[in-house]
Amino acid sequence: FAATDVIRAKRDGQRLTDDQIDWVIDAYTRGEVAEEQMAALAMAVLLRGMSGQETARWTAAMVASGEVLDLSGVRRPTVDKHSTGGVGDKITLPLTPLVAACGAAVPQLSGRGLGHTGGTLDKLESIPGWRAELSMPEIRARLDDVGAVVCAATAGLAPADRKLYALRDVTGTVESVPLIAASIMSKKLAEGVRSLVLDVKCGSGAFMKDLDSARELATALVGIGTANGLRTSALITGMSTPLGRAVGNALEVAESVEVLRGGGPPDVAELVVALAREMLAHAGLSDVDPAEVLADGRAHETWCRMIAAQGGDPDAPLPTARHVEHVTAAESGVLARLDAMAVGLAAWRLGAGRARKEDRVDHAAGIVGLVEPGGRVEAGQPLLELHTDRPETLPAARAALDDAWTIAAEAPAPPPLILDRIT
Ligand code: URA
Repeated sequence: FAATDVIRAKRDGQRLTDDQIDWVIDAYTRGEVAEEQMAALAMAVLLRGMSGQETARWTAAMVASGEVLDLSGVRRPTVDKHSTGGVGDKITLPLTPLVAACGAAVPQLSGRGLGHTGGTLDKLESIPGWRAELSMPEIRARLDDVGAVVCAATAGLAPADRKLYALRDVTGTVESVPLIAASIMSKKLAEGVRSLVLDVKCGSGAFMKDLDSARELATALVGIGTANGLRTSALITGMSTPLGRAVGNALEVAESVEVLRGGGPPDVAELVVALAREMLAHAGLSDVDPAEVLADGRAHETWCRMIAAQGGDPDAPLPTARHVEHVTAAESGVLARLDAMAVGLAAWRLGAGRARKEDRVDHAAGIVGLVEPGGRVEAGQPLLELHTDRPETLPAARAALDDAWTIAAEAPAPPPLILDRIT
């Protein structure tokens, strides 16, 4: 093959053959197809699209570019969850130990945050002593004894995606549904699990802003999983308002522990239980009721074991911010809207996120919502708490929150959290 022929074929709207796809992904990973050629192909894919079959093959080729975890020796059924990312989305933290406590093995190979959405590893690293880097034998051992492991993805998984994602990021080719779906699923398939549940976020704080585009992505993701032998389903869930009350690393850990103790914000608990049900059904464990396992303390007990097994002290105090300020309501009424993106950006400004990969996050920084959307507020009442160690960030955070909410005389009932299910 010649790279130019593959580029021309897609430029002219043709379907790529399996052989063309296998070749171009492999040759690109080995450096034989140049970055500028792959950039042209990515743009052609963005403009022309790919069929379900092309996308599934593209994904399989990216999986084959690296190693696949061998979980065949793990004694429990393996199941994984992936979220497309949102503001205050700490769901992995309570969900992983909950599903493990119900009898499955959950390997959550996670990343660090970039931009306005936080990363699961950044959140857990606010727990003193906890470490993200595990070897393959350690991952397998944790899956057998605890059933739950959240750790950093090893560099050998889907290296083609790592290279291609960095290229897409600087060539305006991130926003292609087949490329996004192939990117996400290549990393999940390389984890070696048997089943997967996707939480596709939809709304102002998500990649996908409306239900139609969220459905399109969810359908592409489920199609790739199914075509590659993975039991896969997706929930489409709302992300127009932050999930729960806490946004920021240590703040989200604290909220997750509340949920694991049977309390916490109702939306977080609802989504954790719904995703757990979906995962347990895939794992053949639908006779276990996750709501019960959450309520009776077994999930919390597994959380403590999961954290301790990776060097963390589940009882240690979490870092707290040196400066806490309130943002208050200017008028009385009902909190009709609290915008996820604005809250995410403000938390990021306070130090909860990073602008460049090599930046450090401030574990204590973030935002706590004091009034739930739909709740009554009086003029002068605190709406949000801003937490930071660096007071010089407060003006920029307040500016990011300028148009973050609406207070109205009355508000319609909030939309349901779970908007659709795709199988
Ligand atoms: N997340 C990914 O892992 N890949 C994409 O392409 C987009 C979001």
